[in-house]
Amino acid sequence: MRSIQKTGTKELGGKLERSKTSGARYVLLRPAGYPLKSVFQDYPEVADPRLFERYAREQWYGELVRPGCYLFDRRLYPDFAFKVIRAHPHVSVVGSDTKIVVERKKTDAAKIKSEVSFEDVVGQKEARRKMKIVESFLSEPERFGKWAPRNILFYGPSGTGKTMMAKALSGKTKVPMIPIKATTLIGEFVGEGSRQIHGLYKKAEQMAPCIIFIDELDAIALDRRYQDIRGDVSEVVNALLTEMDGIHSRKGVCTIAATNKIEFLDDSIRSRFEEEIRFGLPNAEERL
Ligand SMILES: Nc1ncnc2c1ncn2[C@@H]1O[C@H](COP(=O)(O)OP(=O)(O)OP(=O)(O)O)[C@@H](O)[C@H]1O
Ligand SMILES: [Mg+2]
Repeated sequence: MRSIQKTGTKELGGKLERSKTSGARYVLLRPAGYPLKSVFQDYPEVADPRLFERYAREQWYGELVRPGCYLFDRRLYPDFAFKVIRAHPHVSVVGSDTKIVVERKKTDAAKIKSEVSFEDVVGQKEARRKMKIVESFLSEPERFGKWAPRNILFYGPSGTGKTMMAKALSGKTKVPMIPIKATTLIGEFVGEGSRQIHGLYKKAEQMAPCIIFIDELDAIALDRRYQDIRGDVSEVVNALLTEMDGIHSRKGVCTIAATNKIEFLDDSIRSRFEEEIRFGLPNAEERL
């Protein structure tokens, strides 16, 4: 009889027959994060261990477990990985009475705390002034109509405080920020990148108000001529354009993108930003 179909531990291949493997009595899991780092920052909180145990048994019923392998969440936090730290017996199968425990988080490393404030940013007067508008938009989005500064582009040389300013904004307004590097959006498989983008925005909408900070935008939003060379890149760009578009806008989501090569950006992307904010090199006075 074969009642279990889903395979979780690839490394064991077909060598072990599940039906012959004994049921796990005890499994200790450690939250390991997402396979694609830095896209999502949130963590499944295990507030109620008994509730989690039920949730875990249900979705991983029949999964082979042994120390070192991973179990992936398929429900609340799709793809979030839990590493199996201990299993008893050593190689076993999750059953309806397996005791499943999640290790307590030791640090809060997954949550970025922004200790930067606007006051720490030297110079950049023009940027600071424009940030005030964004700040009031994030505090009272309903006051803004059509002209809301939802998509903002930071540009300027490296090390001029673009990332710093985004962090300060998040800290000041207490609006969470999801930082992502554009390069991580280029998936290994076709369709993966656009799925990531949509997932990202969906998540942000649930958390709204929320800031999505896309660093190194130029890595994906190159001129069309270059995009043609890599189809997967233009697919990511198209997904991003859809999300940034006013018509399908996600409520309460503000996109801030940063680049130090604005001249390479594709016009279709550039025109989506309601505001472009320039970061200049500090002058002699500001340097002191
Ligand atoms: N205007 C500024 N005022 C104070 N410190 C600054 C300023 N600009 C840069 N710095 C310092 O330099 C560091 C790097 O700045 P930041 O990461 O914000 O630059 P960036 O513009 O995002 O650069 P990149 O384009 O390379 O990402 C900051 O952590 C900060 O210590
Ligand atoms: Mg930066």
